Amino acid sequence: MNEQIWRLSVRTAGTSLDALSGAMYLAGYEGIEILPEAGDGDDHVTVRAYAVARHGLEELARVVAAVPGCLVGRIEEIEVEDWAEGWKKHFQPQEIGATLVVLPPWVSPKHHPDRMPVVINPGHAFGTGTHATTRLVLEALERARPHVPLRGPVVDLGTGSGILAIAAAKLGLAPVTAIDVDPEALYEAQENARANAVHLLVRTVEGDVQDVPDGARLVLANLSAPVHRSIAARLAPRLQPGGRALLSGLLADETDGIVAAWPAGWEHRVAVLEEWALVELVAPS
Ligand SMILES: C[S@@+](CC[C@H](N)C(=O)[O-])C[C@H]1O[C@@H](n2cnc3c(N)ncnc32)[C@H](O)[C@@H]1O
Repeated sequence: MNEQIWRLSVRTAGTSLDALSGAMYLAGYEGIEILPEAGDGDDHVTVRAYAVARHGLEELARVVAAVPGCLVGRIEEIEVEDWAEGWKKHFQPQEIGATLVVLPPWVSPKHHPDRMPVVINPGHAFGTGTHATTRLVLEALERARPHVPLRGPVVDLGTGSGILAIAAAKLGLAPVTAIDVDPEALYEAQENARANAVHLLVRTVEGDVQDVPDGARLVLANLSAPVHRSIAARLAPRLQPGGRALLSGLLADETDGIVAAWPAGWEHRVAVLEEWALVELVAPS
């Protein structure tokens, strides 16, 4: 089946690639393609981002235009033979931690009989489990599960595809409030929750930190460092004594600043994967 999708190309010096990837990540893009330019003697590369709606790329183009050394190209409509076929090549099942496997709906979980399947239909929203920031939260969630207080809300702040909320519900930490500022992401999160038969356990809310219920026992949040810094003082008081926050989306050198933004006296530890880091904070009992 042929489908129309939109593509944004950005040309950048190899030295600006990290900054560009970081900006794209903050804008919610993990499906990007990097094409080295052969033969012109410099180290430039072209980075392409794809989306099903033009407006998502217009927003991305504005973010990327602020990155030094990046030349933002045109947004073009292209035809792909089969969008799902592309995903089928790139989105393979991923075993995460000791108990989870994240897989797309067209792969049967029967090859992973000892694992809890989390089915994610890849769409526009971030969160297929292929990104290290998502994986860090899933691994920390699995480790933290036995230590999470028995009662109180579980919250996924910045739910995207709903992957963290669904995993929490499937690990028995329900009900979960899944919050996002993006209504399109929430629609996808609801559909994914339904595909995992946890839609009655995951409540989706369009909003932000002020919608985190009081007395939360666990907050999962894969957001950027500036967002983490800006919400810390409002998020911390919403956790119950002994409550836990798993904060991802941070580069390894950003963790100290995040810990400093939380109240003193919280226990904290850091987990690292590739260049990314997660901060786990536990409220005093
Ligand atoms: C990096 S994605 C994380 C998706 C998924 N939770 C995961 O771990 O893969 C961040 C999500 O947070 C949402 N977001 C960004 N800022 C937010 C805020 N202040 N409050 C709530 N959601 C926010 C974005 O719309 C996006 O869906």
